[in-house]
Amino acid sequence: MRAAFPTPFLWGAAGSAHQTEGNNLASDFWALENRPGSPLPERSGDACDGYHRWREDLDIVRDLGLNAYRFSIEWARVEPVEGAFSQAELAHYRRLIDGCLERGLTPVVTLHHFTSPLWFQLAGGWLADGAVERFRRYVRAVVPILDGVEWVCTINEPNMLAMMANVLKRHESGEKRPELVAGALPPPDQPTADALIAAHKAAREELAGFKSGWTVANQNFEPVDGADAQCADWRFSREDQFLDAAAHDDFIGVQAYTRVQIGPDGALSVPDDARRTLTGWEFYPAALGNAVRHTAARIPGVPILVTENGIATGDDDERVEYTRGALAGLHAAMDDGADVRGYLHWSLLDNYEWGSWHATFGLVHVDRTTFARTVKPSARWFGDVARAGALDV
Ligand code: BGC
Repeated sequence: MRAAFPTPFLWGAAGSAHQTEGNNLASDFWALENRPGSPLPERSGDACDGYHRWREDLDIVRDLGLNAYRFSIEWARVEPVEGAFSQAELAHYRRLIDGCLERGLTPVVTLHHFTSPLWFQLAGGWLADGAVERFRRYVRAVVPILDGVEWVCTINEPNMLAMMANVLKRHESGEKRPELVAGALPPPDQPTADALIAAHKAAREELAGFKSGWTVANQNFEPVDGADAQCADWRFSREDQFLDAAAHDDFIGVQAYTRVQIGPDGALSVPDDARRTLTGWEFYPAALGNAVRHTAARIPGVPILVTENGIATGDDDERVEYTRGALAGLHAAMDDGADVRGYLHWSLLDNYEWGSWHATFGLVHVDRTTFARTVKPSARWFGDVARAGALDV
């Protein structure tokens, strides 16, 4: 059977600045990676040298037959010192936007993808007085280079950021690293969540004329053993409050990879006999369709853009298997009425996975020394689906 997707539809691949550019020296995450006793096993270093090789990356995206590319602007480059905006870095990101437009690619621009300038963090991060206005000022500085851009994501996965704020607090107090599946993390630090919601609203005020929204990590919380009420609570703090904050946005970014089961005592570990990916998450392609259905039901009327979905695997056939299953689930959710405008695969490159190079999500392999790009068969398969606008299921 052939599952046809609507036209127009964004078919693309995604990445983020810190994970691909390299030498993001002025950011808080760089400081965390490089400090003595860092909890992170590996550094981003030169990353994929995407800062210099973006033309090659955009050529790959175009040649595969995709029509969209999601990337982020690095606040720490644009404003490395508080209040001092780098015109040269803004011009760099403008060239990247032009590079997309010249190749017929729709740019999907993220303004904040997990990292902040170190000065921002040292000044108290999202909890400091004035944090929201600092973010607004950065957004205001970026708006002039966004001419011709339609889709702007303000903040990537605010729910993960707010949960990680809690994890970092616990790490500082000597607790060991918790379960890595995002949805099994401790609840968000609520003041951080509130500040992020306020920052998102401030950014949207600056982004009149664009389609603006934010992207949420959808965890597919599933109740087991009758834990419906616990699951609803769990889901509200970690996911739904961030969806509710997007109820009047121009779109919502859905990002889904796996599921998390919630029992009467909280999140269950992935069973030993479950099929897992390189991140340790359960192999669960149905995550995407389920996440889209949940989002469509929670904030009806808000158009959905799948801003991330993919798998960390060393077996490229498995990437095709996973993505085929995810797209089939997406198509079924759309058949049932979900208003989905596009699908952006995570990730274009085998990029830095927040502390490790082990979990390879890429459609494209990157040599860690020469930075040579090698397109994987899964990328060609995905490009063929995009060109056809249809999937054989
Ligand atoms: C993030 C990406 C990350 C991916 C896989 C999302 O949480 O936005 O930066 O690499 O998932 O873990």
